[in-house]
Parts: sequence; C-alpha cells; structure tokens
Amino acid sequence: MEYPRIAPMMNPLMSPLVAMTASWGGRDNAMLASGIVGASIVPESPRVLVLVGKEHLTHRLIAGSGCFALCFLRRDQIALARTLGFVSGRAQEKLAGVAVERRTTGAPVLSDCFGFLDCRVVNAMDTGDQTALLADVVDGDVLLPGEPLTWPGMRTFMPKEWMTEFRAMFDGELAYSRRAMGAVRRQGWPL
Ligand SMILES: Cc1cc2nc3c(=O)[nH]c(=O)nc-3n(C[C@H](O)[C@H](O)[C@H](O)COP(=O)(O)O)c2cc1C
Repeated sequence: MEYPRIAPMMNPLMSPLVAMTASWGGRDNAMLASGIVGASIVPESPRVLVLVGKEHLTHRLIAGSGCFALCFLRRDQIALARTLGFVSGRAQEKLAGVAVERRTTGAPVLSDCFGFLDCRVVNAMDTGDQTALLADVVDGDVLLPGEPLTWPGMRTFMPKEWMTEFRAMFDGELAYSRRAMGAVRRQGWPL
C-alpha cells in the first residue's frame, strides 16, 4: 500500500499543537506534541491519551515523575512551537526565559498559552518507537484565549526556511522510528 492513498484519512488525525511539559530531578523540559486524544466520556474523570517518543528528553522526565502538563498554544506562538518541536532539550535549555508556574502535579505550566491540562499517568503501552500514555486530568484551566495553533496552520504561515529545519529533525526521528517500530513489547489482549 502506498502512503499517499491513505494520507487524506491519516493526516487529519492530529490534535492542536501543545507544549507537553514535565519536570523530574530538578530538570524542566517541554516538547511540541500533536498526538493527543480525549480518552474518557465521564466528566468527573477526564482522561487523555498521548504519544511520546522514547528518545525524547520529555519521555525520560515523564517516566521519572509520572506526570506531565499539556499547554495548548495559540496561533501567535509559532516561534515557541519551533523551539519546542524542532530541537531536543538534550541540546538546548528550551524553557530558559519562558515564564512557568506549578499547579497540581508540579509539571511546568506555561503562563502564556491558551490553556492547560495537568495530568497524572495511570497506564502505558509500548508502541515500539513511542509510549502511549493514559493519564488522568487532575487540573486545568483556560489562561489566555485565542485561536488554537495546528500543524497544518503553522505550515502555511511559518517562514519557508523553517521547513528545512523541520525536515532535518523529522528525518532523524524517522530513521529511529523505522528501526524501533517492530520491537513492540506486547502486554496481552484481552487483558
Ligand atoms: C508538528 C509537530 C508535532 C509533534 N508531535 C509529537 C508527538 O505527538 N509526540 C512526540 O513524541 N513528538 C512529537 N513531535 C516531536 C517533538 O516535539 C520533538 O522531537 C522534540 O524535539 C522532542 O523534544 P525533547 O527531546 O526535548 O523532549 C512533534 C514535532 C512537531 C514539529
């Protein structure tokens, strides 16, 4: 099967862009994420399901703390999205100069974003290159409303040269993911 045949169905399966943050062992970090879906129909027990690459620094901080925050970005925050999504915190201190506050879990919440969800992990599934995390939403609020930022939107209005940066980052991740995809540790189904 050639990917372009399924791209019209696959490509819309993306959430708005969020800064996924975590803190562990005195280190704060944030990465850009679009792999997020609501995972509960019970209003008093809200949950999310998120996908986090195993190689990312954020993955290590979430594994250590068991918590993360999702900070939903606005359309005017593409410069921050570029920093968080195109560079790893292993190479650069991405939250230097970014105002953050702590709410319930201790994960950093960006003071300037559309709104946040503060989350505590309750289960995890290995996907080979990523970990799928099911988490309780234990806190959240709207902070500074605006238009939510999406990846298709950002691609249309970001400077053309940013695409070259994105490609370089993405090609490196793709090479790792291709190698890791098959190595799924299965946990059994039905449970
Ligand atoms: C538009 C976009 C969406 C992304 N979505 C995800 C995602 O859902 N999950 C993920 O693990 N990485 C995602 N990434 C990649 C990470 O943001 C990127 O690899 C980041 O450098 C990891 O940072 P860290 O090593 O500091 O944790 C996305 C990147 C972009 C540009």
